[in-house]
Amino acid sequence: MHIVYFSPTGGTRKAAYIIGKEIDPQATEIDITDHTRQQNSYDLNGEDTLLVAVPVYGGRVPSVAIDRLKRITGHNTPAILVVVYGNRDYDDALL
Ligand SMILES: Cc1cc2nc3c(=O)[nH]c(=O)nc-3n(C[C@H](O)[C@H](O)[C@H](O)COP(=O)(O)O)c2cc1C
Repeated sequence: MHIVYFSPTGGTRKAAYIIGKEIDPQATEIDITDHTRQQNSYDLNGEDTLLVAVPVYGGRVPSVAIDRLKRITGHNTPAILVVVYGNRDYDDALL
């Protein structure tokens, strides 16, 4: 499994890590938060599983996170979607 997260203050990373490592202790992490890091592209297949975790900002997924997620392409890859929010509401974030 690959755990992909966008996590400016670390809460989303923590939640993603707890969920992902419980499912697959060998899971690898892909951090798409830091714009100064080289952002690789990933092409995944049906043998992979992807867990994507992003925070909720204003009831939405931050647009910068959406842009960076476009570097990841799946081909029949099962995906688990996690949105982490501050207990107000996650509104449309899972759409
Ligand atoms: C600009 C901004 C907007 C936010 N909007 C929401 C929101 O609409 N609903 C909510 O429940 N929490 C909201 N939060 C809280 C974050 O979703 C929450 O703190 C999240 O865990 C932050 O993730 P991170 O620690 O990975 O950066 C917002 C936080 C920020 C900074």
